[in-house]
Amino acid sequence: MLRRYWEIFLIIYFSFMCVVVDTVSVHQPQHPSVSWETNHFSVTAQWSEPAVLDAGCKATYNVELYSMKCPPEKASYISEWPTQELNYTWHIYEVIDAKCVALHTIFQGCGNKTYSNQVYKDIPQPQVKNISCVYYAEKKMNCTWNLISNTSDLQFFYSDKKDSLKPCVVYTGNGPMRTGCHLYGEDFLSYDWLYILFNGTHEGRPIRNMFLKNPRESVTSQPPKLHITRDRDLLVFQSSRPDFKEECWLYIFHINKCSEGDQVHTGDKHSNWSVRVPYDEACRYTVRVQANYSYLCGKGASDWSEPEDYGANNDPLWILKATVVVIPVIMSCCLLMALILFRRYKDKILPKVPEPSLLFSDVFNDKNEGKITKDLHVDRIYVPSEEVVETTLHLEPKHLKA
Ligand SMILES: *[C@@H]1O[C@H](CO)[C@@H](O)[C@H](O)[C@H]1NC(C)=O
Ligand SMILES: *[C@@H]1O[C@H](CO)[C@@H](O)[C@H](O)[C@H]1NC(C)=O
Ligand SMILES: *[C@@H]1O[C@H](CO)[C@@H](O)[C@H](O)[C@H]1NC(C)=O
Ligand SMILES: *[C@@H]1O[C@H](CO)[C@@H](O)[C@H](O)[C@H]1NC(C)=O
Ligand SMILES: *[C@@H]1O[C@H](CO)[C@@H](O)[C@H](O)[C@H]1NC(C)=O
Ligand SMILES: *[C@@H]1O[C@H](CO)[C@@H](O)[C@H](O)[C@H]1NC(C)=O
Ligand SMILES: *[C@@H]1O[C@H](CO)[C@@H](O)[C@H](O)[C@H]1NC(C)=O
Ligand SMILES: *[C@@H]1O[C@H](CO)[C@@H](O)[C@H](O)[C@H]1NC(C)=O
Repeated sequence: MLRRYWEIFLIIYFSFMCVVVDTVSVHQPQHPSVSWETNHFSVTAQWSEPAVLDAGCKATYNVELYSMKCPPEKASYISEWPTQELNYTWHIYEVIDAKCVALHTIFQGCGNKTYSNQVYKDIPQPQVKNISCVYYAEKKMNCTWNLISNTSDLQFFYSDKKDSLKPCVVYTGNGPMRTGCHLYGEDFLSYDWLYILFNGTHEGRPIRNMFLKNPRESVTSQPPKLHITRDRDLLVFQSSRPDFKEECWLYIFHINKCSEGDQVHTGDKHSNWSVRVPYDEACRYTVRVQANYSYLCGKGASDWSEPEDYGANNDPLWILKATVVVIPVIMSCCLLMALILFRRYKDKILPKVPEPSLLFSDVFNDKNEGKITKDLHVDRIYVPSEEVVETTLHLEPKHLKA
């Protein structure tokens, strides 16, 4: 008996719960879906009316885009659009960063009810990532991309309009996977937009990815070639001219004189792609140049050219340095040698001076006059031997020479 009451209680309880949940969700837009419309380069969100609409009560909708996956954080809000329809379509341009669509119902004439909770739907994300297209030479452009899944039948189409797509002729990439397309033969820089469509299959399901690129936003060229010449007291840094859109390029020269750091100069069509600076003969010049696509035309730059050198670092102070540093060094060496030699032959150069006592005893001792005088002459008084004198004279000039 008790058990039966318990079951009845549970049934009532869960029915009540369902009614509560429903009263919230029935007011939301129903069955939302988001899809890419490949024929029009657009994204469409669709839904159906709330399950319950009171009599005389009208529903409109509000559609929001977020740059995060669902459910998104408020901070990733992009924009919102009101609509009375059961769908909303964005041009691909508007959804470039979007990842999630949020929908809610706005009630009009429904008493106190004003709007429903939000319902979310993810925007299908492309299998092709990191697509980049670079315009790099007259009527030539390369697009490259990464695949997040194995897709060997991927095809690339492009156009400057949304219709009349042209297929890629020259694919690039390694192995069976296509990861690039070489586009050529058209003035892509005059396109308003480059529309790109990928199609293919992945695990039996179709892939349809669309992108929009502005070719002017990513322009590059070969690095300019640099030629350095001297024109009297000027140095002329002459670059090769650009291959396309001469009026759009600004050349940036980095001139490093005497390793003092880069000085920045610019050249363009009006300076015949050259820069002139006063020449300092005592300096080496190291110069690089980069072609920069002016912001007036778009965006981008070439790589830097290889550095080119001119002249050599000649130190005009070298004579002074020699006088101040080298000569004292040589002189101290000579002095040192002289000292060493002097110590070695000291006894011969400066023999012991005879003791005065002996001289005096000689003076006062008349008796032994002849003997002492003879002793002094023979043993005490210095008689420079010819050999010693010669040795000193030979050695000193030899070392002075060094
Ligand atoms: C959007 O809804 C309107 C009417 O509600 C309908 O005419 C139109 O075909 C729908 N568009 C799409 C793409 O479903
Ligand atoms: C709706 O609003 C009216 C007054 O505007 C109020 O009397 C009524 O209690 C409200 N009903 C609910 C369900 O809040
Ligand atoms: C663009 O692609 C072509 C063909 O594969 C290649 O020859 C060229 O070097 C590429 N240019 C750049 C700048 O990547
Ligand atoms: C796209 O580029 C980013 C940064 O360069 C890299 O981290 C990411 O792995 C790339 N995506 C794919 C699918 O290769
Ligand atoms: C892609 O295909 C190659 C061979 O075709 C295989 O070796 C590789 O494991 C595959 N990668 C994925 C992620 O399926
Ligand atoms: C890709 O699109 C082209 C042209 O619309 C079509 O001929 C081809 O069958 C498509 N490929 C796939 C795998 O859907
Ligand atoms: C511009 O530079 C080139 C060398 O690149 C030279 O042949 C030409 O005469 C120069 N033109 C003018 C107007 O200085
Ligand atoms: C080109 O020059 C502009 C202005 O001087 C600068 O802001 C930009 O960074 C340069 N571009 C590159 C790729 O260096």
